[in-house]
Amino acid sequence: MASSDDAKLRPLPNTAALSGVLEAFAFFRDPAFAQKRFERHGNVFETSLLGQPMVFIQGGQAIRDLLAQPNAVEGWWPESVRQLLGSHSLANRNGASHRARRRVIGQLFSASALQRYSAGIISMVQDLADELQAAKTALPLAERMRRFAFSVIATTVLGLEGTDRDELFVDFEIWTRALFSIPIALPGSSFAKALKARERLLRRLQKVLLKASNGNGGLDLLAGGLDEAGIPLTDEDMVEQLLLLLFAGYETTASSLSCLMRELLLNPQVETWLREEINGVDWPPAPEQATTAYDQVNAPKLDAVVSEVMRLTPAVGGFFRRTKCALVIDGVEVPKNRVVQVALAASNRHGAGDLEAFRPQRHLEDGCSATLLPFGGGERVCLGKPLAELEIRLMVVGLFHQLRLHLIPDQDLTLQMLPSPTPRDGLLTKVL
Ligand code: HEM
Repeated sequence: MASSDDAKLRPLPNTAALSGVLEAFAFFRDPAFAQKRFERHGNVFETSLLGQPMVFIQGGQAIRDLLAQPNAVEGWWPESVRQLLGSHSLANRNGASHRARRRVIGQLFSASALQRYSAGIISMVQDLADELQAAKTALPLAERMRRFAFSVIATTVLGLEGTDRDELFVDFEIWTRALFSIPIALPGSSFAKALKARERLLRRLQKVLLKASNGNGGLDLLAGGLDEAGIPLTDEDMVEQLLLLLFAGYETTASSLSCLMRELLLNPQVETWLREEINGVDWPPAPEQATTAYDQVNAPKLDAVVSEVMRLTPAVGGFFRRTKCALVIDGVEVPKNRVVQVALAASNRHGAGDLEAFRPQRHLEDGCSATLLPFGGGERVCLGKPLAELEIRLMVVGLFHQLRLHLIPDQDLTLQMLPSPTPRDGLLTKVL
């Protein structure tokens, strides 16, 4: 067993749930599901969700212990996600075959690739700023953030245009709806529809790949990508990686953007504080500086706002591993073959101080007492982090440099939490 101090080992606390039906119901309905159980059982506990035993962990020590033992764990996704992503997807691979595909796909997010995408992203931000400026009625900002995040990945990275992109979007929405569903393809079920949509998506992505050399998007960067044996990746393999990028890069970034806009519009004093910085930078940035103009060094307040939004309303509420052998997490013995969920949403509020408050300044003062990993960690850390951060920074500076937005009164600003947090009434907004 991977252990640091056997003498202090505690057995794994368990909620005693058997079928896990009620636990699953509570998990999907109650945003404080994990937090309540952590209070009762400590930072590591096991429950069952619809028959799937799952160990939840929170806190710096537990997360460090998990990530420090990469050879003792492997990636894990629910069966519905596994089937819809496909067996070639790097999300479903481990070891050398996972690393080889990360190396290939990672080229889409290198500094030079981001530099290539930035002009397209800036022009999308500017289009939205112009649309908001010209709008006679209120616009749902959350929907615009979704459209933007989808276009960045579909057009800027994959090089899709016009009807190709629109048809892909329709199938993608069908596919997404069944991601966290019961993976039985009964005729007419959302899972069966999603499997069909997956076939169409893969065929379309295959065509995109064939056109990769035309210079649209970044796919030419993948030419010659090799697997773990040094053999070029097949098209079948490559298209499943592209499908993963759509899945991983769209909902997450759209949610972070919507939550960020919501927090700024709900907290005028923070907006004023951030504007002091934004007013001091240029929009649009000089092309050669687009990837660094608003980074942590040049725009520390913006960086703090992004960190605080990702702390309070993480786009990904948790990420998973499966134990390959028994291991010790925060003094608790977790047996072999257990699924572990790092409960980010609960963990981000776990620590000393006013962690329930939205206060970006904390990241510029003494740091934050909670361990923050909105992009996961270790060998499976988010591949698209640099792109997500670039999109978010360009959008915030682009809009707030030029516009004063305000929220339409009497709308529901509470968040629908699944699949990722988003304001229920769409964040209806107008330019002042
Ligand atoms: C704010 C936006 C985003 C957030 C919060 C986010 C968060 C995450 C998290 C928590 C993981 C799991 C990491 C782990 O298991 O340790 C992940 C994995 C991943 N993300 Fe992101 N992500 C975002 C945007 C993106 C974008 C824009 C892309 C690409 C277009 C992307 C591509 C990926 C991929 C490919 C993986 C799988 C990595 C692997 O299994 O090795 N993500 N992301």
